[in-house]
Amino acid sequence: MPQHTFMLNGTRVTVEAEDEERLLWVLRDRLGVTGPKYGCGLDVCKACTSHINGKAFNPCSVPVSKIEADDEVTTIEGLPATVGKDLHPMQEAWLDLDVAQCGYCQPGQIMAAVAKVRQARAAGHDVTDADLDEIRNICRCGTYARIREAIVVGAKNM
Ligand code: FES
Ligand code: FES
Repeated sequence: MPQHTFMLNGTRVTVEAEDEERLLWVLRDRLGVTGPKYGCGLDVCKACTSHINGKAFNPCSVPVSKIEADDEVTTIEGLPATVGKDLHPMQEAWLDLDVAQCGYCQPGQIMAAVAKVRQARAAGHDVTDADLDEIRNICRCGTYARIREAIVVGAKNM
């Protein structure tokens, strides 16, 4: 099988997988990184949301062969290290506001939240209601109100 090399949570990894295998299964089944969740596998539910080079993406829809050797893939497991702490401020806000119910969608929600705050800052403003409206991550438990509150709190500490 072909080999694929990329940066994963700060470490260079090389993994054998067919070129067309989607990155989500490479992460979960071959590398044991299970934070990104499998919901739809079709780039719809956003349960697998992770970051590539600091921006949100959905690894269920990206063949592993599209990931370059210097691409930085960050999953929820690697998020705290991006701020040099045990927990990222967005994770702390999630705990403070007791956001999760079943928890299944929450890694993706947090990764989407961090990316959205970064995107807003890069555009020169703090995260707004309009920005929050753009987040498409589905939560079958319906924790949307607390997710929105937590993003605002977490953003203040980012
Ligand atoms: S599993 Fe990736 S978007 Fe649904
Ligand atoms: S907390 Fe259960 S799916 Fe979101």
